[in-house]
Amino acid sequence: MAGKVKTIAVLTSGGDAPGMNAAIRAVVRTAISRGLKVKGIKRGYMGLLNEEIIDMQARDVSDIIQRGGTILGTARCLEFKKPEVQQKGADICKKHGIDGIVVIGGDGSYRGAQSLSRLGINTIGLPGTIDLDIACTDYTIGFDTAVNTAMQAIDKVKDTSSSHERCSIIEVMGRNAGYIALWCGIANGAEDILLPEVYNYDEQEIINHIIENRKKGKTHHLIINAEGIGHSVSMSRRIEAATGLETRATILGYMQRGGNPTARDRVYASIMGAKAVDVMLEGKTNRVIAHRHGEFVDVDIEEALQMTKSIDPYQYEIAQMI
Ligand code: ADP
Ligand code: F6P
Repeated sequence: MAGKVKTIAVLTSGGDAPGMNAAIRAVVRTAISRGLKVKGIKRGYMGLLNEEIIDMQARDVSDIIQRGGTILGTARCLEFKKPEVQQKGADICKKHGIDGIVVIGGDGSYRGAQSLSRLGINTIGLPGTIDLDIACTDYTIGFDTAVNTAMQAIDKVKDTSSSHERCSIIEVMGRNAGYIALWCGIANGAEDILLPEVYNYDEQEIINHIIENRKKGKTHHLIINAEGIGHSVSMSRRIEAATGLETRATILGYMQRGGNPTARDRVYASIMGAKAVDVMLEGKTNRVIAHRHGEFVDVDIEEALQMTKSIDPYQYEIAQMI
């Protein structure tokens, strides 16, 4: 149970994701509407340790809902894993009169939030990552934008690939998770989708598939490869050597993390940001806001970190079938 909250702070941590600004805006404006003071912590836990803490007013978050990235900046701060450093973070919060923090990030960021909660700072996490790899939620802030950005880029590569009758391997982000790859695989009509969760590393199967399709008259072959598998360039060389077909690799990279958030990312991030403040005001701490079975709910961080999820086998089967 949280103590009485009068001043809250918001920070973004880990990889940035489109929609984080919408979440920051919602946290700031909801908190102000509910009579709280709000502070922004720049550069994640690193900024907390360096006391990069600013007061935030409603106007400070004007004109950001449509912008990618995070106006607060983000960082990976490995030293925050050390108990003495976490204690320093909690002491800094107390020094600045911060009773609660909304942490926008992924699983790693929640562990930092959990440590602060244990040290008496109320914490609520928001799922911010393009990877969709947070088990407690069906939605993460940024995935929808990233997958649409990747889909549009892949459409463009497909145009040139079809014109030259080539095979294309396109590598999408996702760290160890295949969600972006699966979605692009379906949305772009890929011939093969390689996901870390299911790929058997049998390249001969892919080669046979390309050759069979060519015999049937298909003039191009699109392979979506997930970052967790990687090696797209060397794979393209081996496939070209085995099939005799011109094969090119494209690694989409960081463009997938930037850009204007989609309507879904703006709206869901706004609802989640507002709910984070309200959940904290209900007296809760050490919780994550999640979207499950069509509803926005809050989940204990401990439980959230223990949950697992994987690619839906039926969705993967459909992707291969159609
Ligand atoms: P994400 O939040 O997207 O999963 P990271 O795993 O890089 O990204 O974590 C972001 C930050 O969260 C780390 O740089 C670190 O500051 C903090 N963090 C990660 N793991 C822990 C941990 N076990 N304890 C405390 N803080 C952590
Ligand atoms: O978590 C988002 C993500 O873009 C992953 O898809 C990727 O593996 C990772 O971050 C890259 O991290 P960095 O920005 O540290 O290179």
